[in-house]
Amino acid sequence: MKKIIAVGNTKGGVGKTTTAVHLADWLQKVKGSEVVFINASFQTGVHDWLDELEISYYQEKDPDELYALAESIDADYVVIDLPGASEIVREVLDYCDFMLTPVQPSALDLKDGIKMINIVHRKLKLRKNLHAAFFLSLVDLRSNAAGDAQAYFNKHKVNLLDTKIRRLKLIRDSPLVLSTAFRQTDAASKLVAQEYESLFKEFFADA
Ligand SMILES: Nc1ncnc2c1ncn2[C@@H]1O[C@H](COP(=O)(O)OP(=O)(O)OP(=O)(O)O)[C@@H](O)[C@H]1O
Ligand SMILES: [Mg+2]
Repeated sequence: MKKIIAVGNTKGGVGKTTTAVHLADWLQKVKGSEVVFINASFQTGVHDWLDELEISYYQEKDPDELYALAESIDADYVVIDLPGASEIVREVLDYCDFMLTPVQPSALDLKDGIKMINIVHRKLKLRKNLHAAFFLSLVDLRSNAAGDAQAYFNKHKVNLLDTKIRRLKLIRDSPLVLSTAFRQTDAASKLVAQEYESLFKEFFADA
């Protein structure tokens, strides 16, 4: 059965698009699944990247059309890259099978993160089949912000995945070189590919 996976956060600039493209590439290139990507934002910068990765995509900016489009697609997975806005996140949480949420571990981001946590908590009460998880993105391993974030998420009883994605030039440059860590053979990329794979496996483990 087709699964709809959304990558979303009410906040912008947390790594949603980067995560969504890596997830789509992992599902298609590494796992051999049929994937269709939906860009639900107004930006179009991701399209060249998806073209080069040979990932099929649609752009649908209208939240009212998004459900019908996602439903109509024939694929193993539909990956929806959401804009950082609460209304569309709430709406997509009504029908997606999975919601993956990147969060930055900074104190300010965590404070703002309570909004997303509250939205997800409420939807999880209503929808038993929804799988939702948060993970730390853009992590600087030299700071202890990740440890503080862990404590914050535990306090709010949120499913925070153990795998963290580091803030790395290699990841930041991936849309520029129109590639992902899964396509590269150098040692640093292989390590990043392993980290993303560990994140995605952990995310799907309880499904
Ligand atoms: N792990 C990472 N390491 C370094 N840079 C990263 C990483 N993840 C994302 N970035 C960079 O951070 C910026 C924001 O990432 P991205 O566009 O994926 O976030 P977003 O949540 O989709 O943003 P928006 O809300 O604007 O759609 C981009 O410049 C991206 O290249
Ligand atoms: Mg984005």
